[in-house]
Amino acid sequence: MSKQVVYLRGKKVILRPFNKATDLETFWRWINDPDIKQFMTGYKPIALVAEEKWFDEHPSRRNAIALAIETNDGQLIGNMGLHQIDWVSRFATTGAMIGEEEFQNKGYGTDAKMTLLNYAFNHLGLRKIMSQVLDFNGRSLHYSQKCGYSEEARLRDMYFRNGEYHDEVILSVTREVWLPLWQAYQAID
Ligand SMILES: CC(C)(COP(=O)(O)OP(=O)(O)OC[C@H]1O[C@@H](n2cnc3c(N)ncnc32)[C@H](O)[C@@H]1OP(=O)(O)O)[C@@H](O)C(=O)NCCC(=O)NCCS
Repeated sequence: MSKQVVYLRGKKVILRPFNKATDLETFWRWINDPDIKQFMTGYKPIALVAEEKWFDEHPSRRNAIALAIETNDGQLIGNMGLHQIDWVSRFATTGAMIGEEEFQNKGYGTDAKMTLLNYAFNHLGLRKIMSQVLDFNGRSLHYSQKCGYSEEARLRDMYFRNGEYHDEVILSVTREVWLPLWQAYQAID
């Protein structure tokens, strides 16, 4: 097997640029999976051609950096990115999925998010990172809070899911809040 491509190294995962040949159909499966898409703000099925267009256009976007997540032994388990980057005001929004269910709830998302925040704050010089989470996504709220995010605003009854309207919770984290958590996280074996 060829050597693993690594762009960012966490403890449990690595993050690397997309590889259309290996990632496209897997990402397409995840984004349409009912267990995942319930937590996304979009509501339309994503056709393979639309996913492919997104893949093809991604490298030329100035305001987005998305990466694939692999376990340290090379299994593709998710993706995570910084979107709507504002290079003047220095903020961005994160998006994330651990697409393979057997890898959810095992700390991979937290490791990837802490690693991505290190990149955002200490390498890109960003100042504030946001996340938009639907109120019933307890896992996403919890792992985000572990990484230092806190609720900054709440948009009431924004999204209709399963017969009910749900709030959209706007979370944010700054480098000042995140840095002590990062230092503590790095100190753990
Ligand atoms: C959200 C997501 C990226 C988190 O990644 P993950 O690897 O599953 O998360 P982690 O294992 O690192 O952390 C999950 C934490 O939430 C906790 N948790 C799980 N379900 C929970 C719930 N319903 N309510 C509150 N906390 C919950 C876990 O116990 C764990 O906390 P702990 O480490 O303190 O025990 C991943 O689950 C995912 O992709 N989900 C589907 C798509 C999605 O929701 N994307 C985000 C959209 S905003």
